Amino acid sequence: MNLHKFPRRGYVKTPTPIEYLPRLTRALDAGIEVYVKRDDLLPGTLGGNKTRKLDFSVAKALSQGADALVTSGAVQSNHCRLTLAWAIREGLECHLIIEERVPDSYDPHGSGNNFLFNLLGAAGLTVVPGNADIQAETQAAAEALRKKGKKPFIIPGGAADPVGALGYAACAQEIGDQMLWGQNDFSHVVCASGSGGTQAGLLAGFSALSTPIEVIGINVRRAKREDQREVIKSLTDRTLALLDLNYLIDDSRVICYENFLGPGYSLAAPATLEAVRLLARTEAILVDPVYTGKALAGLLGLAREGFFPRGAKVLFLHTGGAPALFSYLSSFPEVAGSGFKA
Ligand SMILES: Cc1ncc(COP(=O)(O)O)c(C=O)c1O
Repeated sequence: MNLHKFPRRGYVKTPTPIEYLPRLTRALDAGIEVYVKRDDLLPGTLGGNKTRKLDFSVAKALSQGADALVTSGAVQSNHCRLTLAWAIREGLECHLIIEERVPDSYDPHGSGNNFLFNLLGAAGLTVVPGNADIQAETQAAAEALRKKGKKPFIIPGGAADPVGALGYAACAQEIGDQMLWGQNDFSHVVCASGSGGTQAGLLAGFSALSTPIEVIGINVRRAKREDQREVIKSLTDRTLALLDLNYLIDDSRVICYENFLGPGYSLAAPATLEAVRLLARTEAILVDPVYTGKALAGLLGLAREGFFPRGAKVLFLHTGGAPALFSYLSSFPEVAGSGFKA
C-alpha cells in the first residue's frame, strides 16, 4: 500500500495511543481484554476521526487552489466542527450545510458542536430538513460562492469518499505497527459506522497489508444492516481502486451490526447511556450518545453474547464525539446538576 503518492497536510504527526482498559475489562467480565485506540486525542479542535480524513481531503482541496470549503453534517456534526477548525488553521472560508435529521432538533443557541460552529465562526451556515437533497444543497452553496469569485471545494458529509478514507487506511497501518511493537494480537477492531469512511478505510488498509484483523462496524445511522454493508463495501472497493489495488474486498469481511442503533440516528438507547456511564466511571474516558457510545455499547453487547472468542484482545476505536455529550445532559438526570453520586 503506497500512501506517499497522495498529498496530505500532516495533521497527524504521531500515532495515537493504544491503552489497555483493565477496569472496564474487569467490569465487563466476558473473558476478553478490551483496549482503546485514542483517536479522540487526535489534533484538531477537540479531536476525533475526521482529522485523519481531512488530512487528505484538505490537501486535495489546496492542490486544486481552493480558498473555501463546503461540507455538510447533522446538527451535532463532529465532521462539521473539524472541517471548520482545519479551514481556520489553513486560512480557508468554511460553509456548513446542517441537516436536521431529527425534526426541529436545530437550535441556534444549542450547545455541544452546535455552539462551537458559532464560536469558531463558520462563514456560512445553512440549515436544511433531513430529507433535503444534500448534494444539491452543497452544489448550490458552492455555486453561490463561485459567483462571488471564490474557489470552493466540496468535501462530502463525513469526508466519506475514497480520498477521506485514505486517512483510515493510514490508521490501519499505524495499528499494524503498534501491534508489532506492543506485541499485541488484536483479533477485532470495533468502530462506529456512519458515513462509512472510517470502517471502509480500515478494511482497505488491513486487507492491503494482509493484517488478519476483523473490523466490526456498529451502525449509528442506518437501521438496516444490509444498507450499511452496501455503503461500506462500495467505499472499500473504491478506496482499494484509488490505492491501485486491483481487487474487491471479500463480502465476508464487511461486518456491520444494526442492533445497537436504538431508536435512530442521534437518539440514545438505554444500552448507549449505560456504555457512556460505564466507560466514564471505570476509565474516566468520555464517549457520546450519538457515535462512540453506540459503538461501545455494541462491543459490550457482542462480548456479553459470547461473540468474541475467550481470551480475545478487542480494540475499541474511539473516534471522538465527546463535545456532543454536553448537549445530552438531560439523558443523565442522575448526574446532571445533582452533584456526584456513586
Ligand atoms: C465521533 C464520531 N465517530 C464516528 C463517526 C462515524 O464515522 P464514519 O462517518 O467514518 O462512519 C462519526 C461521524 O461523523 C463521528 O463524528
